[in-house]
Parts: sequence; C-alpha cells; structure tokens
Amino acid sequence: MAQAATSEYQELARRHLWLHFSRMGAYERGAEMPIIVRGDGCYVWDEHGNRFLDGLSALFCVNIGHGRADIAQAGADQAAELGFFTTWSYAHPRAIELAAKVASLAPGDLNRVFFTSGGGESVETALKVARHYHKLRGKPMKTKFIAREVAYHGTTLGALSATGVTGLREPYEPFTPGGCHVPNTNLYRLPPGYGAENLAEAIRHRIEFEGPDTVAAVIMEPVQNAGGCFVPPEGYWQRAREICDEYDVLLISDEVICSWGRLGTWFGAQRFGYQPDIITTAKGLTSSYASMGAMIASDRIIEPFLEGTNSFVHGFTFGGHPMASAVAMANITAFEEEGILENVNENEPHFRAMLESLRDIPIVGDVRGAGYFHAIELVKDRETKETFDGEAAETLLRGYLSGELFRRGLICRADDRGDPVIQLAPPLIAGPEQFEEMEAILRPILEEASRRMDSH
Ligand SMILES: Cc1ncc(COP(=O)(O)O)c(C=O)c1O
Repeated sequence: MAQAATSEYQELARRHLWLHFSRMGAYERGAEMPIIVRGDGCYVWDEHGNRFLDGLSALFCVNIGHGRADIAQAGADQAAELGFFTTWSYAHPRAIELAAKVASLAPGDLNRVFFTSGGGESVETALKVARHYHKLRGKPMKTKFIAREVAYHGTTLGALSATGVTGLREPYEPFTPGGCHVPNTNLYRLPPGYGAENLAEAIRHRIEFEGPDTVAAVIMEPVQNAGGCFVPPEGYWQRAREICDEYDVLLISDEVICSWGRLGTWFGAQRFGYQPDIITTAKGLTSSYASMGAMIASDRIIEPFLEGTNSFVHGFTFGGHPMASAVAMANITAFEEEGILENVNENEPHFRAMLESLRDIPIVGDVRGAGYFHAIELVKDRETKETFDGEAAETLLRGYLSGELFRRGLICRADDRGDPVIQLAPPLIAGPEQFEEMEAILRPILEEASRRMDSH
C-alpha cells in the first residue's frame, strides 16, 4: 500500500484500527488519533512533524532508544540465514546463544530460559510452570498465586487473575481461579496495621489464611508499576524470600518492566539483592525492536521436568523466534558496548533531583521510583494526602494533563489505576539535557493543574 496522506491515515485508523486500552468512542466522535511515524534516540515525531520527548520509552520498551537500524538489521541478517524455525522440539543457534547469554546475566542459578512473544505470555508460562512443578513433586493442591493489589501482570486470563486492578478484571470475570492479593508497597499510603518494616508479613498472613498446601507461587514486581512506581522497603524482598522458603512457595519476580537496565541493573532482583525462583521479562529484552519475552527459571525448577518422560506441555509458536533472538542479542551487545547500565546509574541522581525539585508545586504529593522509572503522585491536599477520585481524577488526568503534556511535546503516562500519578521512564540513553526538557514542560503544566484543581 502506498504511503497514505495524513488525513487518510486518520480516516483509515478510525475505520479499522482498534487501539488497546483506548476509549475508541472519542475518535468516532472526531478526536484526532495520535499517529507516531518516526523515532530517533529519545525523540519521536508524529504525522504532522511535531517532535516529542519520549518520556515513557514507548511503554517502558525502547530502552536503547529509537531509530537503531543496526539492531533491527541483526533481525534482517538472520532472516537471510534462517527466517523462522520453531522451538517446539527443535533448537536453532540464535535461541541457544541468547539463552546462554540471558542465563549468564541473570542472578544466581536462574539458568533455564523459556522464550515467549511478550510479557503476558511470560507470566502465563511462570504461573503454569509453578503449578506443574508442584504437581510433579507430589503437591497437586498447590495451585494458587499471591499477587499484590493494583499490580499489573498482563491481560490474558491467567495473568489477569494475578493482575490486581479491579477495573481491568471486572469485565472478564470469571477467569483462571487461584489469584489472591495482598497489599502492595505503597509507602506513601501504608495499609492499616502495617509499617514499612512489616509489609512482607502480609504475604505470610495470606499464605497461612489460604492454607500453605494450596499456594503455588508469589508473583511481584521489583518496583510495582501500576499505582506509580512503588519501591520495596528495605528488607522486603529478603523477607518475602524467607517466607516463600518456609512454605515451599515459588517466588516469581515479574520484571517485564524492571529488567534490562530500567533500574540500572540487568535485572531488578539484582538492584534489591534477592534471589527469585523465576523471572519473567519482555519489553527491554529486544528494546522492543522485535516481540519477545522470556521466563527464566532456576535449575531447581526444571529438575522435576528432567525426570523420565516428564515434559512441560506448554509453548508458543513464536517463542524464541530466530529474528527476535538475533535482535535481542544485538540489543544486549549494544548495552554492553555503549555502557547503557552505567548511563542509568550515573544519571539516576540527576533524574531524581529534577523530579524532587517539583515538590514545591502544591499538586505534587510524592515523588518515588528507582533507576529510570519514577512517578509523581498528584494530590489535592499535601497535608492530608487527600487524593482526586472519580470525576476530579477524570477532569485532572483526561480533561487536562494527558492532552496538555502531549501538546507541549512530552510523552509520559498520566495514570489513575491507583491514585493519580504521572509516570516517567525515558530511554536509558537519556541524560541531563532530557531531564531539563522534561522539567520545562512539567513545571508549568503542574502549576496550572494545581490552580485548576485548587490543590494546596
Ligand atoms: C509487570 C508486567 N507484567 C506483564 C505485562 C504484560 O506484558 P505484555 O503487554 O507484553 O503482554 C506487563 C506489561 O506492561 C507488565 O508491566
């Protein structure tokens, strides 16, 4: 198809393209769909030629930055050699090399890599492997998963049973049974009866309540995305590890966002110094130049699957796709050669300082996060931490902030799956120049939002 004219794209998109997580009615009623046509480094351009600072790495994805034809080229080169072969019963060199590379970077004995096409599939795989693992070891009752409130683990029915966002769950009930939830690590708004020091005990309490013989796994993100970058308090993950060991429950670290440098380490578990049984990953693995994810399991997890005729009866046609594997390897190589992790570690304090400097604006209630993954929580009253709910949140986020941030050239996320937040997660090549640009856009908009919403 020849390149369509600008207005023609709008028309075709309105008519045929069903956007994910979008209120399509707005486009039906004439709103313009944002159409991004090009990217380079930390920036993208829309169909009108407007430039945007991509403060969200295209949904925590393009960690290496936009416009890296060399990384995509690795996929094209691979296509000439072997465009596709499946990893159902066969192997090919690119999947083998990548599995070995991922295992070498993953913490401890996480040495077995099961490739998928994305994050949701990685989570599904982890949940299934956990159930099957226990069954093979003679504990068939261990089927439940403990996740955290407001956490997002994907939208497929299994992953959705772990996802803790009511609005995303309700329309699709009932789904895979077994999902239970505990409070998250929102340190700005601690749940009643808990302090930062004993939050992990909620996991223990839930395991005991459900019956330890019925619980297969605990699944949590190193820094929880939904709700706005909830960091774990000191010792939280270590305590979770102890609890899981005590009850023979697997610990899954869902690092679909928090791996591949997002927190300044290859994996989020390394940033906080804990050892999971399973890591789920995607997005930054290829910097999203190809669709790929992985479940990385410890040697201990695969053990029962190695006995006799046992096998993990699970797979996806495209898991370990040769082109995606080649792209992932080129991406990881670029990370190493270009010091991407070092850039995050060197600049995280500057990023944080820029965000902290916004605290004088009345609507800024909290600033939190780690690495290149931060959130600003917006409040009506800083003294009481009164939030914006219902109509007020709608007016603030969709009525003003989302549109205005985009209009002024900053792509970030104004989100109210929990309390209202603005999330920032720039490509990992960003530095002080981009932070200054973010501040120049954020400050006047947040000041205006404070006035409009009468924040104090
Ligand atoms: C922590 C986490 N898990 C799972 C997923 C699902 O990944 P995907 O959208 O690739 O299926 C996401 C997506 O953002 C995520 O952030």
